[in-house]
Amino acid sequence: MGSEQGARADAANARELRSAAVIGAGTMGRQIAAAIATSGRDVRMWDADAGMRDAALARIAEETRTLPTLPRYAHHQFTLQPPDNVEAMVARIAMAESLEEAVAGADIVIEAVREDLETKRTLFRELSRLAPDAVLTTNSSSLPSSQIAPAVEDPGRLLNTHFFAPIWSRPMVELMGSGATRPEVMDAVERFGKSLGLVVAVVRGDSKGFIINRVWRAVKRESLRVVDEGHADPADIDRLWMLFFGTPFGPFGIMDMVGLDVVADIETSYQKVATDPADQPSAILHRQVEAGRLGEKTGSGFYEHPEPEYLKPEWLTGEGESTS
Ligand SMILES: NC(=O)c1ccc[n+]([C@@H]2O[C@H](COP(=O)([O-])OP(=O)(O)OC[C@H]3O[C@@H](n4cnc5c(N)ncnc54)[C@H](O)[C@@H]3O)[C@@H](O)[C@H]2O)c1
Repeated sequence: MGSEQGARADAANARELRSAAVIGAGTMGRQIAAAIATSGRDVRMWDADAGMRDAALARIAEETRTLPTLPRYAHHQFTLQPPDNVEAMVARIAMAESLEEAVAGADIVIEAVREDLETKRTLFRELSRLAPDAVLTTNSSSLPSSQIAPAVEDPGRLLNTHFFAPIWSRPMVELMGSGATRPEVMDAVERFGKSLGLVVAVVRGDSKGFIINRVWRAVKRESLRVVDEGHADPADIDRLWMLFFGTPFGPFGIMDMVGLDVVADIETSYQKVATDPADQPSAILHRQVEAGRLGEKTGSGFYEHPEPEYLKPEWLTGEGESTS
């Protein structure tokens, strides 16, 4: 990187991150844009798919009205306050005609496109060129920004910002540097996250799965293993979990919500780099996927949906169920 460009980038990083661009108008991009616009900032978005671009603003309005009221998350103690005036919030979001237009003048560019390293690297090569002064972040759920860094001329302004859906009920973001991220860039993004009303957790070093997905993965892996080894049924594990932690669903209930095909893909991505030889694909999970029982999205998985039995109060006590 030339010293002039570095100096310009540092000047940008020292100032507050006022204007944002969000690339990708899917599930996460729309929610990230909504949270940023709710903080009073202007946002420009772009998606490679014209249909997604056309539908995004109406979907953001609709989702901002519905997602914060989902009964499933009613027990969450700390939430992000949705805007009183949804139209005014959406009016701060503009859909750009091109990537170049979306990122022009942005202080921070947040990427939320499909989870594929080559797709992201190609995009970041463009962002590096089109937004030479901006902080660049990726919302990837599994790819550390260190893997995207070779595509960016100045990885000192690159980092992971891992948001969660639904953002209104899970108001948190994990930040993880690229290995070269400048401290002032991390600080600026930490302030930016807090200014959105999010809890910000900074990951030290490089961690696959960042913080919470890694912990959640250990819970998933061990829950599946207990079933595979024949020690308990999914319902036993969920019931004990719900009683122990006081939550309205257990690990298998959550896996059904995520989608068992998605869970299987995530498991595979961890198993590819596992150092523990016991970290093997789960038999019960793969039987479910092969049978097309993918959870809520197909109407059945570990439970039958849309009214899984764990929602019934009598289910929690195990009344009427055989324990043998
Ligand atoms: N969905 C979640 O709960 C969640 C949570 C945390 C992180 N993530 C991560 O966020 C990212 C986006 O996930 P999502 O669930 O929003 O996916 P999605 O499939 O809903 O949306 C992705 C969007 O990216 C667009 N796109 C693909 N390639 C593009 C490109 N080169 N340029 C511009 N747009 C492009 C697609 O048209 C699509 O609209 C992924 O990296 C995912 O791992 C998702």
